[in-house]
Amino acid sequence: MDVILRRLRAEDISQVVEIEREAFSPLWASTPFKRELNNRYANYLVACPDAEVVEHPAPPKEIKADSPVSLWARLAKGAGRLVGRAQGDSAPQPLIAGYVSVWYQGESAHITEIAVREHLRGNGIGELLLIGSLTAAVEYGSQVMTLEVRVSNFIAQRLYEKYDFKSVAIRKGYYSDNREDAAVMTTSPIHSDEYQTMFHDLQEAYRTRWREISIQE
Ligand SMILES: CC(C)(COP(=O)(O)OP(=O)(O)OC[C@H]1O[C@@H](n2cnc3c(N)ncnc32)[C@H](O)[C@@H]1OP(=O)(O)O)[C@@H](O)C(=O)NCCC(=O)NCCS
Repeated sequence: MDVILRRLRAEDISQVVEIEREAFSPLWASTPFKRELNNRYANYLVACPDAEVVEHPAPPKEIKADSPVSLWARLAKGAGRLVGRAQGDSAPQPLIAGYVSVWYQGESAHITEIAVREHLRGNGIGELLLIGSLTAAVEYGSQVMTLEVRVSNFIAQRLYEKYDFKSVAIRKGYYSDNREDAAVMTTSPIHSDEYQTMFHDLQEAYRTRWREISIQE
């Protein structure tokens, strides 16, 4: 296993801010992540390399084109880029690949942001973050998961549709940077047998295709 999910920590914040800036419009109001760490009604998860991989990275010379090396080894081509050091950080930290933030609002768990570093997209990390947030929402007792997405953001919509989110409304001019409309997407009840069966099957398919699903503290 090469990528795990865990809760956001204070030392991750500078990297998560970088990912937020890269993923969203420059006019996007930045999330006060430090304050949010203490929000009981929110859940922030990050995807990062398994500690084992950071501590014992494969040396570059062992990486052959046809060998089943980890995502991190392939992308980082050695130990150097398994860690990130954002401006102001005193020590290098494990490279954060992406994050998801969820607010628990009444019966609904609402994804406020989900993003993956641009050069790591297309490796199943966004899907892993969505699986993690759905799992946490089921544990929290939320009935459904909801979100807003730009009507032009087909990639994110494909991801949500895969997990059976359906577009239920349009918020006109929702995004302040370009007045773009948002599609409101929501799941059916996530505790229902039907949803759970589908979610279980999707996770099995994920494990077969990508990696084990590991959510740590
Ligand atoms: C949306 C985002 C988080 C997806 O992360 P990712 O790690 O690249 O996605 P994954 O590799 O896990 O792909 C999961 C699914 O997303 C969809 N997807 C991903 N890349 C896609 C692409 N280039 N074209 C179409 N669908 C795509 C597919 O449904 C895919 O499942 P599949 O491989 O079975 O077809 C990422 O593109 C991102 O950070 N975008 C910028 C921020 C953003 O738009 N966030 C959403 C705000 S609502």
